[in-house]
Amino acid sequence: MLRTHTCGELRLADINKTVTLCGWVQKNRDKGGLTFVDLRDRYGLTQLIAQEGVTPTDAQEMMRKLGREFVIKATGKVIERTAKNPNLPTGEIEILVESLEILNAAKTTPFIIEDETDGGDDLRMEYRYLDLRRNIVRKNLELRHQVARATRQYLDNQAFIEVETPVLIKSTPEGARDFVVPSRLNQGEFYALPQSPQTFKQILMVSGFDRYYQIVKCFRDEDLRADRQPEFTQIDCEMSFITQEDILNTFEGLIRYLFKEVKAVDLPELPRMRYDDAMRLYGSDKPDTRFEMQFCPLTPEGGSEDLVKGRGFPVFDSAELVVGICAKGCSEYTRKQLDELTDFVKRPQIGAKGLVYVRYNLDGSLKSSVDKFYSEEDLKKWAERFNAQPGDLMLILSGETDKVRKQLNELRLEMGNRLGLRDKNTFSALWVIDFPLLEYSEEDGRWYAMHHPFTAPKPEDIAYLENIEDYGKIRANAYDMVINGTEVGGGSIRIYQRPLQEKMLGILGFEPENAKAQFGFLMDAFEFGAPPHGGIAFGFDRLCSIFGGADSIRDFIAFPKNNSGRDVMIKSPSPIDDKQLKELGIEVRKG
Ligand code: AMO
Repeated sequence: MLRTHTCGELRLADINKTVTLCGWVQKNRDKGGLTFVDLRDRYGLTQLIAQEGVTPTDAQEMMRKLGREFVIKATGKVIERTAKNPNLPTGEIEILVESLEILNAAKTTPFIIEDETDGGDDLRMEYRYLDLRRNIVRKNLELRHQVARATRQYLDNQAFIEVETPVLIKSTPEGARDFVVPSRLNQGEFYALPQSPQTFKQILMVSGFDRYYQIVKCFRDEDLRADRQPEFTQIDCEMSFITQEDILNTFEGLIRYLFKEVKAVDLPELPRMRYDDAMRLYGSDKPDTRFEMQFCPLTPEGGSEDLVKGRGFPVFDSAELVVGICAKGCSEYTRKQLDELTDFVKRPQIGAKGLVYVRYNLDGSLKSSVDKFYSEEDLKKWAERFNAQPGDLMLILSGETDKVRKQLNELRLEMGNRLGLRDKNTFSALWVIDFPLLEYSEEDGRWYAMHHPFTAPKPEDIAYLENIEDYGKIRANAYDMVINGTEVGGGSIRIYQRPLQEKMLGILGFEPENAKAQFGFLMDAFEFGAPPHGGIAFGFDRLCSIFGGADSIRDFIAFPKNNSGRDVMIKSPSPIDDKQLKELGIEVRKG
């Protein structure tokens, strides 16, 4: 090896050793007779020092001229520093240089390689290899590695085996578009990249593997957001001869193990919330439960009395649902702050028509934006329902149930942000269970699988499959794990019998011929002794970003794509030449 030690490991105990270090020049400083260089590698920083009269002149001269990011090899003696740096693990020592070699020079980098850099997002992505030299980014990848290692430890200990499944396959519907790859040998035909290894892991259960996992790349051609990449990684798992309860327990165990190993956090047992309750109380199937602020309806719900209708306020009179949240300690919000909140809910992405507020003043009086229609007596009743105290602010929306809940969910999260209730170092995890099996798309006029077409209905709801009117009532043995308002994983108990799978595909609008062409292999397999099975997949990148306290999963992916799905470093996607197109049997475009 070119070096004897790394730049992160030398301490006082190493004094007087002659060592050789290799690394990148973080910076150099010339102080008359003394020249200093901070040398960096993956493990840390060590200070090199050259002293006139002690260090050979040529070595000191060379040290003076080193530019940032030069790659060098330095040999010298470990000495105790006079001015120690308590912030650096190697801060008590330095290397008195005896000889120096430049292994490679470096041009001036387009941005500074430090924690606080002057490089914008695009520039950092274009030169991702330089960005990856920065501590913060490197630490994220180290964290990712730790999460992967701990995942393997846990699952290996539970007798799971890792099996690789192919990448050139055909469509596995998970609700996104497929990326396709043309086949040269079978012209006019295409592979699809897996949106997940779903069908393969089920096939592995038929083969008797019993407990499978894979840390695996998945590909989905969908619009990108902070928590979505076109290629991302799943911890994909499947088990045989289990109930939903077994899956929840096994994978709750995994998550708690990861928190303990990676973050030294003891995660409490995960609460379980039914989908219906999540929607009713938080307006979301991935509620951020780091803070309460549950929804409170003023229209009747679960036997409660109506508190808004018939007072001449047409907006509430015509609303299917009038529902609000109570923001603790916000009664003294200024007009400007309230206007901001109103503008927030009226943004096109949220789409509310307006926002009603009630201040519960510290003196006990109540003042609302709808005083014209509601007496203080009415508002008192609202406050009771909201469990509000003097000093609180009630924020109320109204309209169609589903829409209002979505809008209020956004407002709740916004209030959570404003009140500092969404601390990245607090972790609140839960299971959301009892998802509906199917959801209706008004736009397409048809039913879709809420999870995927292989999810089993709850046995007690199977009878509802007979009547289209009842489809909305069918619940699935499907579950999501949610941490801090992010869906980190989801799975289900599967259908494992051909007739039920055929029926389900029929309900989802597959003609029998089509169903056979796409999923015949799976249904055939079901006829050769398929065990009852189920599983789950975690978004590995999302888990890492939660552990790392970051919003974007990009920071935890070595070479991510930007928001247009481009890799700006290698400049992909890119055109291919006509010859290649011809070979693939793809028509060459003229002009
Ligand atoms: P699902 O589609 O819910 O389930 O995906 C599982 C988890 O993968 C993560 N995820 C993503 N992460 C980053 N970028 C994306 N584009 C992206 N899409 C999904 C989410 C999600 O919870 N085969 C089933 C699992 C099963 O039934 O066992 C599946 O893929 O965290």
